[in-house]
Amino acid sequence: MESYNKLLLENKAWAKEKVQDDPDFFSRLTNIQKPDFLWIGCSDSRVPANEITGTQPGEIFVHRNIANMVVHTDLNLLSVLEYAVQVLDVKHIIVCGHYGCGGVKAAMGNNSLGMINKWLRNIKDVYRIHEDEINAIQSEEQRVNKLVELNVREQVTNLAKTSIVQKAWKHKGHPHIHGWVYDLKDGIIKPVFELNANTPLDPIYMYDNL
Ligand code: CO
Repeated sequence: MESYNKLLLENKAWAKEKVQDDPDFFSRLTNIQKPDFLWIGCSDSRVPANEITGTQPGEIFVHRNIANMVVHTDLNLLSVLEYAVQVLDVKHIIVCGHYGCGGVKAAMGNNSLGMINKWLRNIKDVYRIHEDEINAIQSEEQRVNKLVELNVREQVTNLAKTSIVQKAWKHKGHPHIHGWVYDLKDGIIKPVFELNANTPLDPIYMYDNL
């Protein structure tokens, strides 16, 4: 059997099982999407948002890209963010990185990889800010993992720098933003950073007419 046909077969089996367990499962979901969480994660196939958090369809609104970046000129991310915050009214945004991230590793190297250089530049900029702290670590694996954590922290802060989040903080008092790191070795998520609504930022990033 072709590999993709297996996916379609598995899908039929999954849909059947869902209805057996809960006859209204799909009719409930067709009528409403009201997730409390926006997930911004890495595209890495080993970090599936629903599976590792034990959540069901309808519970998490998901955006994934290489190395879970929040780039302030990325229309894709910004569209997802605006819809999640303004329309879905999510209460929490989770930026979830993972140890051993290939994007972070590549950004720490000096190989030109083509188009992706431009994306990885955003991670190199995070590295530059924390260069001394990272370079003080002996093991290469630990240096990568330190940048994974610092990168998550930076992306959480990048969310708070957007007018979308600041406007919601001012008028609704949420979302709460969380920075998490998933460990591929044991499947455990470690919270590393968080920003509550209305946490003061560097004043240069604060908008006062929202
Ligand atoms: Co990754």
